Amino acid sequence: MKAVVIYSTRHGCTAMAAELLRAALRDGADLVRLPGAEWPELSPYDTVILGTPIYVGKGEKALLRFSKAKLDELRTKRLGLFICAGDEDEGRSAAQLGTAFPAELMSLAVAKGNLGGDLDYGKLGGFTKFILRRAKGITSGYSRLSPARVEAFAARLADGTMTR
Ligand SMILES: Cc1cc2nc3c(=O)[nH]c(=O)nc-3n(C[C@H](O)[C@H](O)[C@H](O)COP(=O)(O)O)c2cc1C
Repeated sequence: MKAVVIYSTRHGCTAMAAELLRAALRDGADLVRLPGAEWPELSPYDTVILGTPIYVGKGEKALLRFSKAKLDELRTKRLGLFICAGDEDEGRSAAQLGTAFPAELMSLAVAKGNLGGDLDYGKLGGFTKFILRRAKGITSGYSRLSPARVEAFAARLADGTMTR
């Protein structure tokens, strides 16, 4: 299986998740960060994994734009979709996944899920802290990127078990 992980990140958690996925996949994977790199050619890959953090309920625009523009080609791939998000509630994770990726890709993906989020509270600006406190009741950081969920995600991709 020749795989690529295409991801966005603001603070590094989703990049770390991409690295862990590369390590968990038997044949490894190429990593491409968007925006920043040119859009990758998908033709060399049979497996494409798309990953984005969630900010204020939404995935990153660069990833959504890419996945919409490449829909035809992505339909032909073994597909994995993940988010890195602080909210671990199952229903809200599914809803956030659904806003981050086109509905058709959600139904085609053989692996999808929230791999967990990291929040370095000390590095946030005062206004961001204020918004997080008011909107979500968050007043401290956390480190919840889950190696176990990364392993399970990689295993689903490898055996093609449908998660829907
Ligand atoms: C301003 C702000 C807004 C956030 N909004 C959400 C949110 O709506 N839902 C959620 O589950 N997590 C939210 N998070 C948590 C991030 O999704 C989490 O920290 C993630 O790991 C960030 O990934 P990154 O380090 O790759 O940018 C928010 C974090 C910040 C700082």
